[in-house]
Amino acid sequence: MDTFDLIVIGGGPAGYLGAERAGHAGLKTLVIEKREFGGVCLNEGCVPSKTFLNSAKVADYCNHAASYGVKNDAKATVDQKFVVERKNGVVKMLVSGVKAGLKKNKVTMKNAEAYIEGKTDGGFIVKAGEEKFLAKRLLIATGSSAVVPPIPGLKENLEKGVVLTNREVLDLTEIPKDFVVIGGGVIGLEMASYFSSVGSKVTVVEMLDKIAGPTEKEISTILQKRLEKKGVTFNLGCKVTGIEEDGVIFERNGKSEKVKADKILLSIGRRAVTQGIGLENIGVNLERGAIVSDDKMMTNVANVYCAGDVNGKVMLAHTAYREAEVAVNNMLGKRDRMRYNVIPSVIYTNPEVASVGETEESAKAKGLKVKTVSIPLTYSGRYIAENTELDGICKIVVNESTNTLIGAHIIGTYAGEFIVAVSAMIDLEVDIENIKKLVFPHPTVCEIVREAVWQI
Ligand code: NAI
Repeated sequence: MDTFDLIVIGGGPAGYLGAERAGHAGLKTLVIEKREFGGVCLNEGCVPSKTFLNSAKVADYCNHAASYGVKNDAKATVDQKFVVERKNGVVKMLVSGVKAGLKKNKVTMKNAEAYIEGKTDGGFIVKAGEEKFLAKRLLIATGSSAVVPPIPGLKENLEKGVVLTNREVLDLTEIPKDFVVIGGGVIGLEMASYFSSVGSKVTVVEMLDKIAGPTEKEISTILQKRLEKKGVTFNLGCKVTGIEEDGVIFERNGKSEKVKADKILLSIGRRAVTQGIGLENIGVNLERGAIVSDDKMMTNVANVYCAGDVNGKVMLAHTAYREAEVAVNNMLGKRDRMRYNVIPSVIYTNPEVASVGETEESAKAKGLKVKTVSIPLTYSGRYIAENTELDGICKIVVNESTNTLIGAHIIGTYAGEFIVAVSAMIDLEVDIENIKKLVFPHPTVCEIVREAVWQI
């Protein structure tokens, strides 16, 4: 039986980066992936959806070219088959990059389904296909899968291909006429934004009375208005009660309604993948189906770590990266821990949304004394120069007792690219007076952060 210092189960962002970092540090590492290396993020999530959304952005620009003085009399149309082929090319390139990174760091890769058989004095025994391996440590990074609730008609229509999850939707080569999205969260909104830009009639059915989950209300309201302007219909406070081949049935104020659909996207959240991998054979604790881990990414079992969606904490690829690094550092005896309060999140709709830290509501719920400022992005010259719809805003939340930033929420161009600057300010607890002294490039949209702190 081949022996390793570390076996990583799962080759998504947590798994491949963890394996790469461990290999780099000199640990003899094996990473086992049952599907494609790169996981959901690279193959059927973050990256492919961004190639889709970029095509939509180009189409949006073309169709509004006249507003920028560019003549374009024909209506731009999207060749969906081409979009999918381009997406496949992008994915292929990135997956080969992941494999190259693992190889460079001397990580052994195995394409098989892993199962933890148990523990002996020599370490953990992991079966992968027909082979068995032994390792001193494990990093569980099996990710998550789409939640499929017991809604009548859902299972049958998933099998028929009428209902799609994040996986199948990114392989649609035809633009549906009527596209219904169940769940107005991140996946639902990104896909609603895409399909409305490329010509579908899009309807979102969301259980809550607001879209975009925990996103600052002021921002989610602007996003909703913009998407409505693009033609998206939102049915909020509506619970889906049934799926038929030609539509979705939902309840509004106790009354049943039906919305017509050619294709239906199911995006009501994701659940950690913890079954069928033998966690019970070594006694790993689960809570609500996810692995319980501390801020060093340790589970209750010595030498068993986890990273990524499998712990159900913050299901984002960049959280997974950092968790994997924290896990590996702790394996190596280095002090490191996760700080979940400074993880930025981005919704890549057009316009895009970026947030980090506390919202006014969450800060107040924690009993913090806060000051907030909300200013329009029109304070930025570049924003006005490059946009015709000038509804973007930046809202910051400041802790009055420490005079430091604890949250920022932005809707508008480039927000996802510069939010990390705010994350750093929050993480490093930079005093507001020192932020005022920072020089931002001009003209940029990120100057909005400097403007906002001057309004405090
Ligand atoms: P989500 O948790 O973001 O949103 C699910 C929505 O579905 C919620 O608003 C919920 O109220 C609603 N819902 C639940 N049951 C429902 C029902 N029966 N009928 C109607 N609405 C219902 O989950 P989503 O969009 O599936 O995304 C999954 C994960 O993927 C998230 O953790 C997200 O963070 C991650 N993700 C992140 C992206 C990004 O960072 N840009 C992009 C895509 C996914």
